[in-house]
Amino acid sequence: MAIDADIVRSKPADDLGRRVAAFTNDNLFTGAPELLHPPNPYRRMLVPDAVAEVDFTRPLAAGEATGHRALVAHRLLGTFYEADTVLLPEQGLGALRGDFDRFYGDGLRRLREASLSDLEHFAFALLDDEIDVTGAWSTADLAAYFEHTAAEADSGEAESLTAIAAARRPEVAADTYLVQLALDGLTEASAMSRNLGGAFGPEQSALFKVFIDEFGYGVHEAKHTTIFRKMLRSRALQTHVHAYWNFYLAGPLATNNYYYFVSRDHASFFRYIGAVTYAERVFAPSFVNMIDTYRGVFGDDIDLHYCEEHAHIDAHHGRITRDEILLALAERHGAGVIPELVRGIAEARLLGGWFEQDTAAQIRWSDELADYRAPDVDTGPAQRVALTADSPFGTRSHDATVVVAVEDGAAELITGPTAAPEPMARGDAVLVPAGRLYGLRAASPACVYSVRVAGAVTPSAS
Ligand SMILES: [Fe+2]
Ligand SMILES: [Fe+2]
Repeated sequence: MAIDADIVRSKPADDLGRRVAAFTNDNLFTGAPELLHPPNPYRRMLVPDAVAEVDFTRPLAAGEATGHRALVAHRLLGTFYEADTVLLPEQGLGALRGDFDRFYGDGLRRLREASLSDLEHFAFALLDDEIDVTGAWSTADLAAYFEHTAAEADSGEAESLTAIAAARRPEVAADTYLVQLALDGLTEASAMSRNLGGAFGPEQSALFKVFIDEFGYGVHEAKHTTIFRKMLRSRALQTHVHAYWNFYLAGPLATNNYYYFVSRDHASFFRYIGAVTYAERVFAPSFVNMIDTYRGVFGDDIDLHYCEEHAHIDAHHGRITRDEILLALAERHGAGVIPELVRGIAEARLLGGWFEQDTAAQIRWSDELADYRAPDVDTGPAQRVALTADSPFGTRSHDATVVVAVEDGAAELITGPTAAPEPMARGDAVLVPAGRLYGLRAASPACVYSVRVAGAVTPSAS
């Protein structure tokens, strides 16, 4: 007997906005004046005002993957997923015990549980439109498709690394990219850990072999997150979860969340395997490229052990996941599962593209900000925001290109984790292209800025 769809959908999706608003208005998520988050993994700015603008009844559409609605959804999803992992501050819980209790406690947990499936649908339903896998696939077809996508990745351009190399301030650009990697780097393999339980034969043991490498074979100093933090430290960047929360972009957030999404729901297990096999395969060459770029920017003034470790071990993981998991599962479970393995490969490839495009676009815009000074057009409806020195700092983006103009007082425009704040006096205006992440903080006791859809306004330099 089929399950009654009305019972399954007992929480209508149009109620999602109300549940999400209740979550984001919790004191843990309403922010603080500082740009970076302190060593407290339970507090992260979810920008309730920006969340309130989003219509949650209409899932993200193709082409919206790195826009404002995507940013809002993926900040929430990332918070939901990490609340299902164990986060403890390095300095000890001490005075944060109350925040721990609240973050993991019954109230927020019930809101998460009541929202998660609908929010996943909101954020990832577009994958069904973007990727179409039809027809009969054999194991040989799967192997050929995998080799094709891997070869394409090997010969393709790493858009973010190109943007770093071309930047006027390559150090700042390189930090922006590092910070995007921190999203996964500081909690590495947490999604993978959700696929280790159960009983699925030799492929389960092969996956465990990959997993235990990510955990340094139980040696904390060798754990990938530990060596990732060494890289951050060598750039004088903060190393705690998630100091740079305000600077994670929608594309990287979506990529990270995707692995949680297909790991939480084991109906998507074969998609996960396709995706993780693709990721492990393309990591090694991409870290070789990253080493080249970062040595070019920083010389010996950066610790690239993390990249060297991955350039080495992911060549090995690429082989294990392809031969001992992906192709082995296809052989064992047959044609019924192969289209899902293919779908996972295609999805990981697509999401990797979102990560690169979004990060490269942010690097370029932030680096060329001076060219985006715009005339302050006082036509059209404006959204006005008042700030004081005590206002919580948050970042956001818009689904349309907007002009941000200071109308009263003085402000600073922040566009990246280590980018110099851009001073904005009364009357100054900057063009913010659709999808670009920015935040303003007051540089006078109080200031007011406006946000208008840009229409025909073009950057002053063009
Ligand atoms: Fe790793
Ligand atoms: Fe790996």
